[in-house]
Amino acid sequence: MICVNDLFFSYTDAPPWLLSDISLQVAGGEYISVVGDNGSGKSTLLRLLLGFLRPTKGTAEVGARRIGYVPQRQDSLGADFPITVYEVLYSYCKLLGKRGAAPPGPYADGPAAASAHTGAFSPQKPDATPAHAPDAHGSSTGAGGIGAGGSGTDSTVAGGIVGGGPPAARIPALIDAALAQVDLSGKKRALIGDLSGGQHQKVLLARALLGDPDLLILDEPSTGVDPSGQEEIYAFLKNLNDTRGLTILSVEHNLDAAIANSTKIFHMANGHGHICSPRQFAKEMLGG
Ligand SMILES: Nc1ncnc2c1ncn2[C@@H]1O[C@H](COP(=O)(O)OP(=O)(O)OP(=O)(O)O)[C@@H](O)[C@H]1O
Ligand SMILES: [Mg+2]
Repeated sequence: MICVNDLFFSYTDAPPWLLSDISLQVAGGEYISVVGDNGSGKSTLLRLLLGFLRPTKGTAEVGARRIGYVPQRQDSLGADFPITVYEVLYSYCKLLGKRGAAPPGPYADGPAAASAHTGAFSPQKPDATPAHAPDAHGSSTGAGGIGAGGSGTDSTVAGGIVGGGPPAARIPALIDAALAQVDLSGKKRALIGDLSGGQHQKVLLARALLGDPDLLILDEPSTGVDPSGQEEIYAFLKNLNDTRGLTILSVEHNLDAAIANSTKIFHMANGHGHICSPRQFAKEMLGG
């Protein structure tokens, strides 16, 4: 589902490299935690996968049909912006519909809809930054999802954005279901700025899931969340991975969570990255 090969990147497109000879393969159904020190290039790697940045050398391909993205906290919903939880999710649903008309989306009724792979976050060329997408830093307010980076490997959607959002009449029910999933039904009319850190992150998760993704990319989903809220978020993610087979790539500072939940860990340091099992990682890093 994700294939990064011999990737080199710097923000100046010249040495010294921030990312140097990075390779990473992620199969469908995996739960990968990306770990590394501050500034090691984790968010940059995500931006490359999402198509906001282009590799200087090498490739970063994503074969997902739809991607849900939860950005790093400082890039996230503006706390001062006077918008309610419902409005954030509603505007996101409308955004899904603006991605262009196409085959029936996952929200349409009928059997054809179930097999159609549409949605806002279909793979796209790296240079086809969508009009409503977050900027190169992955920041976003009302908008939430992202097109995949790399050259799309799904031939039906490669090179273009394939749209198909929910019909307007179904949006309220979809929002209710998304909020119920993350146990936030009671906060539908709350202002984003009035939410706790954990509730804020849950809204971002609900928003990412509204696009019916087959790949979820998260950048430190539990930052600013208290321990019990963190547990809830990780249990939720693990459940999505276990029961729905949703592929997850999550940047983590919480190493215990990374070790407990992931199928593999991608450890970034000094521009390089290597993949290992959680057990190996615990042994190497924590002496466990
Ligand atoms: N748009 C940009 N232009 C130039 N340099 C940048 C840009 N974005 C990030 N950097 C630099 O690239 C390096 C890696 O940043 P990145 O955000 O990818 O790190 P990170 O591993 O996600 O860090 P953190 O754990 O703090 O989130 C940092 O030195 C940062 O200052
Ligand atoms: Mg980061």
